[in-house]
Amino acid sequence: MIEASRLKIGYDNKIVVEDFDFEIKAGEIIALIGPNGSGKSTVLKVVSRLMKAMAGVVHLDGNDIHRLSTKEVAKKLSMLSQQQITPPDFTVRELVAYGRLPHRQWYETKSQEDEEIIEWAIGQTRLEKLADRYINNLSGGERQRAWIAMALAQRPKILLLDEPTTYLDICHQLEVMELVSRLNKELGITVVMVLHDLNQAVRYSHRLVVIKEGRFVAEGTPEAVLTKDMLRQVYNVEAEVTIDKNIGKPVFMPLGLAYGT
Ligand SMILES: Nc1ncnc2c1ncn2[C@@H]1O[C@H](COP(=O)(O)OP(=O)(O)O)[C@@H](O)[C@H]1O
Ligand SMILES: [Mg+2]
Repeated sequence: MIEASRLKIGYDNKIVVEDFDFEIKAGEIIALIGPNGSGKSTVLKVVSRLMKAMAGVVHLDGNDIHRLSTKEVAKKLSMLSQQQITPPDFTVRELVAYGRLPHRQWYETKSQEDEEIIEWAIGQTRLEKLADRYINNLSGGERQRAWIAMALAQRPKILLLDEPTTYLDICHQLEVMELVSRLNKELGITVVMVLHDLNQAVRYSHRLVVIKEGRFVAEGTPEAVLTKDMLRQVYNVEAEVTIDKNIGKPVFMPLGLAYGT
């Protein structure tokens, strides 16, 4: 579905990601993990065509992403960046309606189908009661759901989420994770998300991809990737990793910093 190979990415002339390969298969949930500044957001920007790589290529369903129009990309893929700038006087419904723009010509007004999809996206994210509220008056968790609803109104096959749970309390983090999980299971949407909480990454994704200092480190099932060695090497943290019997997946408990390796 998406294949990125040999990506070299930089800002001005400073290279921040190098020799990075990334594959996204239809139907999976991938968590992209790594320390701050390791290049996770940069990779997502290139995969969603917000930014151009210095070298390497991204294929979306077999086509070089730079040969597709913005609309063609937006119909398949929708990206929520790390910091969304909320337009000051938008209601939830108005924000969600923006997700329909890639599906119409500039001279067309909203069709019946657009209206139905907007209501569908609001329903999927359980925002019916908040649809006429201003975005800026919502709580962090509600606002994040409104952005996800906008992304859904694009009817994308792939959702890219950059730190969708950062700044949310644990209840609202889980609410977003459960929503993502349901969109994947019930609608078959493929998801790539950047997460900092490794236990949540393990619990909610099929595959983890690890990046450090712009370089690929590891990828695989949560069991294969979440190991003491990886935590020491990538995060400089000593940790206990055990299998949680309730979910049959590894969980980790940090013990302290692993100085000098
Ligand atoms: N707009 C930018 N201009 C210059 N450097 C940037 C910009 N955005 C990110 N960087 C640099 O690129 C590197 C990777 O950043 P980023 O992809 O945001 O990392 P992550 O999302 O993993 O925290 C960092 O060194 C960061 O300082
Ligand atoms: Mg980032």
